[in-house]
Amino acid sequence: MAVYKVVQIGDEVLQEKAKEVKSITPNIIKLLNNMRDTMYANKGVGLAAPQIGISKRVIVVDVGEGLTELINPSIVKASGQIKDTEGCLSLPDVVGDVVRAAEVRVKGLDRSGAEIEIKAVGYAARAFQHEIDHLEGILFIDKAENIRKVK
Ligand code: CO
Repeated sequence: MAVYKVVQIGDEVLQEKAKEVKSITPNIIKLLNNMRDTMYANKGVGLAAPQIGISKRVIVVDVGEGLTELINPSIVKASGQIKDTEGCLSLPDVVGDVVRAAEVRVKGLDRSGAEIEIKAVGYAARAFQHEIDHLEGILFIDKAENIRKVK
């Protein structure tokens, strides 16, 4: 169990385009484990590697439907539009309303290196789009309207 400090807005790593994973080394497995532990410890529904300071294309998502780990994820199909409220562990003080695709197909590699494709709807679809944005250096506030303080 390794819980990392979540990188906060203002850190450059959050604005970088993350690098593709070339091979799944023991370090990548460790990264996945650390990201999972850090996400759950912070009660998050998703986490991207840059959020623990690692500029690699790795995400984890769990909106309550089980853990999905994806290496080099990409959206292969998107349809519909939904606006909903969104937050981020890297910007814990604010939420905002973001228009996202209602349904996405996401593909990537699992930890064994197998290619997987996932169909996600609703909040899960939102989480995948949010985390993949992190890999492009995009934060939800770059897209949000009605950004407001929480707490
Ligand atoms: Co985020």
